[in-house]
Amino acid sequence: MKHIQSLPEPSADALQHSQKLVERICDEIKNTANANTRNTNNNGSISFRRYMEMALYEPALGYYVAGTHKIGAAGDFITAPEISPLFSQCIANQCAGILKKYKKGGGWVLELGAGSGIMASDILLELERLEQLPEQYLILDLSPDLIQRQQQLLTERVPHLLNRVKWINQLPENFDGIIIGNEVLDAMPVEVFTQHNDQLYQHHVIWENNQLFEQLQPANESLQQLVEALNIPQQATPYTSETNPNLDGWFKALSKSINSAVILLIDYGYPRKEYYLPERNKGTLICHYQHLINEAPLFYPGLQDITASVDFTAVAEAADNAGLSITGFTSQAAFLANAGLENYFMQELDKNPDNQYKLAQQVRTLSLPSEMGERFKVIALTKAIDKDDNNSDMIGFSSLDQRYRL
Ligand SMILES: C[S@@+](CC[C@H](N)C(=O)[O-])C[C@H]1O[C@@H](n2cnc3c(N)ncnc32)[C@H](O)[C@@H]1O
Repeated sequence: MKHIQSLPEPSADALQHSQKLVERICDEIKNTANANTRNTNNNGSISFRRYMEMALYEPALGYYVAGTHKIGAAGDFITAPEISPLFSQCIANQCAGILKKYKKGGGWVLELGAGSGIMASDILLELERLEQLPEQYLILDLSPDLIQRQQQLLTERVPHLLNRVKWINQLPENFDGIIIGNEVLDAMPVEVFTQHNDQLYQHHVIWENNQLFEQLQPANESLQQLVEALNIPQQATPYTSETNPNLDGWFKALSKSINSAVILLIDYGYPRKEYYLPERNKGTLICHYQHLINEAPLFYPGLQDITASVDFTAVAEAADNAGLSITGFTSQAAFLANAGLENYFMQELDKNPDNQYKLAQQVRTLSLPSEMGERFKVIALTKAIDKDDNNSDMIGFSSLDQRYRL
């Protein structure tokens, strides 16, 4: 991935698509000017969080909702399950241990934000090999476009298991089993704030001279409370960062839908103490456009991914507030090593001896500290899972469980 500031010009069709979304955003900005809000801009403004939500999820137009390719070589970014089946095999191995607890196939799998569907198909194949197939593999995604791709890919890759896969459009009730989400948390809209001279500012988006601009406004009360809880030391120079205000509500809804479950979330981010460091004074928000990283979220809304690293302490707090237990936290490298990466590597090598270089490269990308190994973390949350064997089934955390860092 290269870091750049100027982006290749999109096609005429793509530009037209982005323009439609800009018009929708602009309408919403103008409407806030008419409404009697505490908006400090006469021409109206929306919070950055709302902008990001529209850029990613606005019906028919948002980045995840509309038809750009997004994930994979032909898209804008690549994720661990796209890099190698070894990743999903390790996840499946962890799932198998949990599914064993549910006698007579009572435990299901629910995957949140399944992307291209590659992880679902690799997990199903490995669970089949381990004779731990769940009766149902549920997929919940916000992206109609990706759901279509998932259906196509699963039909091609695991036609014989398709009867177990079900797409749902809301959280289930009384769920028992394992819930997994790779890179879902980082795709949630965040508030961006700047602390300077004892003042807290909230980033807004305005429309001026036929362009979208970011504007700093005094932070509203709820953002002030959220940022106060982060305990960021005052800096002499402006300090910009971000926080996800939706975590509490999201985990409460998730917890409510569960009877008993292990939730496994994998994402890039840090425990809070390592997130809001003085030197990280520009935050972590980045955009992906055709495998180029940039820091310009207002460019071409709807055509590029916008994402922020995850504050795993905030995740643990929100999960705790929602009645979930924090059962494990570790780096992706440690999780994969514990969950059998080496064995899976040997197994794949046996099947394809000519692929040694390629497979070794995949292992390196997934687990080297300078690649995904340390930047990505895995957190396990549980509800109503038998305390006695709590961690014995959590093979991914059997060594280097780092909950103390949260
Ligand atoms: C960065 S992509 C990751 C896709 C896939 N898990 C992978 O690793 O390739 C984020 C995915 O999360 C989905 N998503 C975002 N928020 C979600 C939510 N609240 N519930 C379910 N899916 C969500 C998006 O639609 C998208 O499929």
